[in-house]
Amino acid sequence: MTVKIVYATRYGSSREISGWIAERFEAEGFTVRLENVSDAEGAEGYDLVLLGSGIYNHGFLKELEEYIEKHSESLKNIKTALFGVAMKTEPIMYKGRSHGGILMLEKYAQQLGDRVIGCEMLHGQMVFSAMNEKDRKGIEQFYKMIGLSDTEAAERKKPRTLMNKSECWDFACGLMEKLNRAKVTA
Ligand SMILES: Cc1cc2nc3c(=O)[nH]c(=O)nc-3n(C[C@H](O)[C@H](O)[C@H](O)COP(=O)(O)O)c2cc1C
Repeated sequence: MTVKIVYATRYGSSREISGWIAERFEAEGFTVRLENVSDAEGAEGYDLVLLGSGIYNHGFLKELEEYIEKHSESLKNIKTALFGVAMKTEPIMYKGRSHGGILMLEKYAQQLGDRVIGCEMLHGQMVFSAMNEKDRKGIEQFYKMIGLSDTEAAERKKPRTLMNKSECWDFACGLMEKLNRAKVTA
């Protein structure tokens, strides 16, 4: 069976995570094609297409949103799965409602229709010193907005990784189980 992974990344964590997911599929004999969204073509002919991106301000990077938009008609006929790479992967309660986490992926799943077989939020990393100036300012503003003291903000700006190969492999295994179940019932 063939899998294509289209990822969007700004600082490389989603690329690395896509590689881990690919590795787990390949270990079960799948043929995997990994494509940065900036070079990605259409997705016809694959048994499964994974679409994943670093999360920026509660959504995918614009390049992946544009890819989904552009290919939405053909993607609706293919089994797909979505993953976001973020520092905060769980939804939070705010004013009596849940926000963020996997709920961020809902709008993309709706665009892709009923052939979406999985959605997951995976942990990423932040290296403040490697960010561009716009992102550094954005992060500093965010830390002010949530009321962090200078000391707390300085602590958060230290390189932090939450990346976890095991959760990426679990995601891949869950998708393979669903594909195999679909084969049995077909
Ligand atoms: C400007 C900016 C905005 C971000 N917004 C969010 C966010 O809304 N939620 C979250 O959990 N993580 C957020 N992050 C953390 C990224 O999702 C995390 O660093 C991820 O690993 C980036 O993926 P990439 O390296 O593939 O681009 C943000 C990071 C930056 C720099």
